[in-house]
Order: sequence, then structure tokens, then C-alpha cells
Amino acid sequence: DNNTFAFPSHFLWGGATAACQIEGAYNVDGRGLSTSDIHKYDTGLDRKKYRHKLVENEHTSATLSAAIADKEGYYPKRFGNGFYYRYKEDIALMKELGLNSFRFSISWSRIFPKGDELEPNQKGLEFYDRVINEVINAGMEPIVTMFHYDIPLHLLTQYGGFKNPKLIEFMTRYARVLLNRYGDRVKYWIPFNQTNLIQYCSFKSLGILRDQTDNLVEDQYRAIHNQFLINAKIKKYAKSLNSHIEIGIMLADCTYYPRTCKPQDIVFAMKRIRMQYFYADVPLRGEYPGHMLRYFNENNIRIDISEEDKSLLKENTLDFLAFSYYYSRTLDSQKNTMDPATISENPYLKSNDWGWTIDPLGLYNAISQYWDRYQKPIMIAENGFGYEDVFEDGVVHDDYRIDYLRQHILVVGEAIKDGVNVFAYLPWGPIDLVSSGTAEMSKRYGFVYVDLDDYGRGTGERFKKDSFYWYQKVIASHGTIL
Ligand code: BG6
Repeated sequence: DNNTFAFPSHFLWGGATAACQIEGAYNVDGRGLSTSDIHKYDTGLDRKKYRHKLVENEHTSATLSAAIADKEGYYPKRFGNGFYYRYKEDIALMKELGLNSFRFSISWSRIFPKGDELEPNQKGLEFYDRVINEVINAGMEPIVTMFHYDIPLHLLTQYGGFKNPKLIEFMTRYARVLLNRYGDRVKYWIPFNQTNLIQYCSFKSLGILRDQTDNLVEDQYRAIHNQFLINAKIKKYAKSLNSHIEIGIMLADCTYYPRTCKPQDIVFAMKRIRMQYFYADVPLRGEYPGHMLRYFNENNIRIDISEEDKSLLKENTLDFLAFSYYYSRTLDSQKNTMDPATISENPYLKSNDWGWTIDPLGLYNAISQYWDRYQKPIMIAENGFGYEDVFEDGVVHDDYRIDYLRQHILVVGEAIKDGVNVFAYLPWGPIDLVSSGTAEMSKRYGFVYVDLDDYGRGTGERFKKDSFYWYQKVIASHGTIL
């Protein structure tokens, strides 16, 4: 199809990944264990229901030890798609695809294996020197996430994760090491991936073990307060180092539609969305919104926000808003609660095997809402369609993926026409990788197929899918050939 609108020539067309889903080599070159290493592949996985079980959040000190000692189960994120060994080949493929930007994360436990050391692991730093140089030499802008769901395990067992203010010191030290080492070459930094999923990801995002908390909700918000302070400290340090560096907040978009036009449904959906905006409100506007302070008061959630914290937050707001968008959700005020895991069906939308709806207009809605609210540059840090591809004779005919991405790119163009400063579009997993939510390899997003199954069996070889040649044309034509 032809599209008359050409994206700006400086627009970042990229791809996005995370260390724990691609690298593997979990015990190589001094890397310590992290939360991602104990996500076991569930042989009885129910794809439609996994989100409601939130199994990872049930981890205790005992289940952690059991996973570390387990010799039977398969833990896919320990092995990823083999990027640690194949990064040159993968970056060459992304160059051939035409990407001008690449988002990846640094594995915290490669740099600080336990998390509380004073000195970093040189072998870890050298690996990312090689990756960053390779990315830049391939003509791509590196976009780096500092922490993407892989907290060094020692910080959970020893300190109780982010609810402990000691983590402010540890993560800030880690961030300073990264900025000192790579700040000359990396402009865009995202300290925290999908910072708002505290209920879904209290284990892998906040490091909370169930046996270490008496008041889970309070500890989740205490942990997020510490993460807000870390963001502000990172921003302050980055600016003192190099004014070129930009620090962003990243949200998992939670677009909620009211099930009907009943005012109760409208207000309920607004309240649920507002609870999600909160995670960007503080880092981008520099203060806690009143409705959250009221919520804390009325729900026995005690957060210690000092005067010093308030000025740190106010004086160090972040530079851009990154967000991931996969699907929209629908809410019924009668049936759903404030718990983000509860949603209702949307009769107007189709969904994939995992129940994720296909809704490009939801992306247009999200971009527009964020722009109106914050007026900060917007990076679409993830978007994509998970599908169990059929691989035969070295090819994958993934017209469903092309269709999904085409529709989403079109609405990004619509937002740019509206005058929104959206400067990057980074589809998730340009080369197939391990799923974050289910640890499956067979939930694929890539333009490049990786010959590995859910148990890590296969050659690991890479093959270009039909979507590879399609996205190549989209980028080369600045979005005019879709
Ligand atoms: C986001 C994460 O939640 O969505 C990624 O930042 C993740 O890490 C992606 O892979 C897709 O989710 P899933 O569960 O399909 O891998």
C-alpha cells in the first residue's frame, strides 16, 4: 500500500529488546544470578489465563532457593536467543533491515553480580562496550534501558528489593558507572522498564518476596517511591556529566475503555487510567498528584515523602516519555475492581492466543492523551504482535504481523500530523526472543525467526521472515510504502 505521508527524516525506526530475553550466558564472565534466571518454563501453560495467575509474584525466599537448586526444569531466560555469542550477526541483520536505532538493556548483574559491590565487573563493562560500538558502527542510535526485569537476586534475599532505601544507593551507583562509561556514546537512557506494572511485576520489577512483606500494597508504593528518587538522582547526575544525555520514563500503556457510556463506567475507567498516569506524573511533573495522596491516606499506605525528596523530584524531572503499546483493555464498573488484573471483554476487538486485543486506534488514543498531558517528546519503546509462527523450508509467511504493524505505524503518522513530537517507533523483539510474561520462545514478535523452541531445542540459526522485507521497505521509504 502507498501512504502519502512521509515520516520526518530524523525519525528513529528501530527495534527493542531486553538483556534477559536475548543474551543467555547467565553464568558467564562473572555475571550474577538475577530475578529473570528463576522464571521456569511452565509445561502446562494456559496462554489465556497466565496474566491472572501472576505466579512470579508468589515467590518467597524458599521458592527462590528451590529454583536455584532445581536440576529438572527449563529456565529459558538463562539462555535467551543466544545474543551474547551472536551479537555481531544479529546487529548485522538489523543493519540490513535498515534500523537506525536499537533499544537493548544492560544486565545489572553482569556489571554488579550481587548488586551491592563497590567496584563493577570489568568483563561485563567490556561486553557492552563491544555491543554499543557494534551498534554505532552499524549506523544505529543505541537506546539503553538500565534495568529491565533483572534485579540481582542478592538484593532481594539480603535487602528485600526496592522497598529498602539501600537500593537507591546501589542502583544509583550502577547508573553512574554506566553513564561514566557509555555516556559519550549513548544519548537516550531509560532507567526503568514499564515502571507502572507494580501489581503484575512486584517480583521482577520491585524485588518483593512474599515472605518479606506484611503489607504488600504499601511495600509496592514504597518501592516505587524509591524508584522515583533514583530517576531524579540519575537525571541530576547525567546533566552534570553531559548535557547531551536524555533520561526517560517508561510506562506500559494501560489504555482502558469504559464498557458503556454509563457515567459510572466512564469515571471508573478514568480512575483506573489515572492510577497508571501516576507513574509518569511524578517523574515528568515532579510531584505527587492529590488523588494518590488521598488513596494512600484512605488505604493505610504510609509513604515517607520528605521535603528533601519533594525538591529532588521537582528539580529533576525527566526528559521524555517512552511507552510500550500492545493492546487496549475494557472495564465494566459493575464487574471490575481497582485491581489492574481485572478487565472485561471488548466485543469489537479480536485478540491473539494470549488474549491481547488488536487495536491500532488505542495507540492513537494513547499517544494523543500523553502528549496533551505532558507535552514531552514521545518514544514508542515497544509495539508488536505475538504469534506462534509456522516455520517451513526456511521461511515464515507472517502477513498477520505485517498487517498489525502497518495499522499501528499509520496511526503514529496521524499523531505526527497532529503536531505531536513522537520521535521513535521501536517494534518489540526484531529478532525472536524469549517472552517476558510466559517465558515461551513460541510467542514470537520478530522480523527474524530464531530456530529454537520452548525448551531451547534447535540450531539457534536466524531466518528472515516476510515481515523483514516489508519493514525494510517501510523504513527505506520513510513510511510511504506500507
Ligand atoms: C513488555 C516488556 O511487557 O512486553 C517486554 O517490556 C515483553 O519485556 C513485552 O517481552 C511483550 O510481553 P511478552 O510477555 O509477550 O514477552
